[in-house]
Amino acid sequence: MKEKEQKRSYSTECYNEMKLRLPSLSVNEGMARAAVAAFCAQLDPTPSELADIKCAVSEAVTNCIVHAYRDTVGIIYISVKLCRGGLVRIEIKDKGCGIEDVELARTPLYTTDSAGERSGMGFTVMESFCDKVRVFSGCKKGTTVTLFKFVKGKE
Ligand SMILES: Nc1ncnc2c1ncn2[C@@H]1O[C@H](COP(=O)(O)OP(=O)(O)O)[C@@H](O)[C@H]1O
Ligand SMILES: [Mg+2]
Repeated sequence: MKEKEQKRSYSTECYNEMKLRLPSLSVNEGMARAAVAAFCAQLDPTPSELADIKCAVSEAVTNCIVHAYRDTVGIIYISVKLCRGGLVRIEIKDKGCGIEDVELARTPLYTTDSAGERSGMGFTVMESFCDKVRVFSGCKKGTTVTLFKFVKGKE
């Protein structure tokens, strides 16, 4: 019952929406993070809530740049929906290489980076800073990460 209730609350009506498309250049990571934060500012979030959103978005967008479109440039599709009850739903989608095993990829410290530059903590960071993280992926089709965050605001 509790699970059902939670499911319902994650799918409440959206009343405002923003869409953004950016090439997967590392210079655009900061742009994506700042644009999402600016859009969410209308909820009057606390500095901590805003920092959580920025951090989670940064991890998801970085993954598109360094993993999905590694050695190439593709498009990152970002959608932010503000829903009733203070729910923010952020979708970050790529049409890159995809993830073979999503469950494994979400394991803390798991990384396919052999250069030793990545910590393998991106998904763990997203999970700890958001209320729910959904990942859909298909090999050579791409990946969609959806971040759900309830913003209470300063009131
Ligand atoms: N958008 C993506 N496209 C392809 N692979 C991804 C994507 N996001 C994550 N991955 C895979 O999941 C692994 C874990 O991601 P993450 O937790 O962010 O750690 P890190 O980026 O430090 O490796 C990555 O090493 C990569 O193999
Ligand atoms: Mg990462």
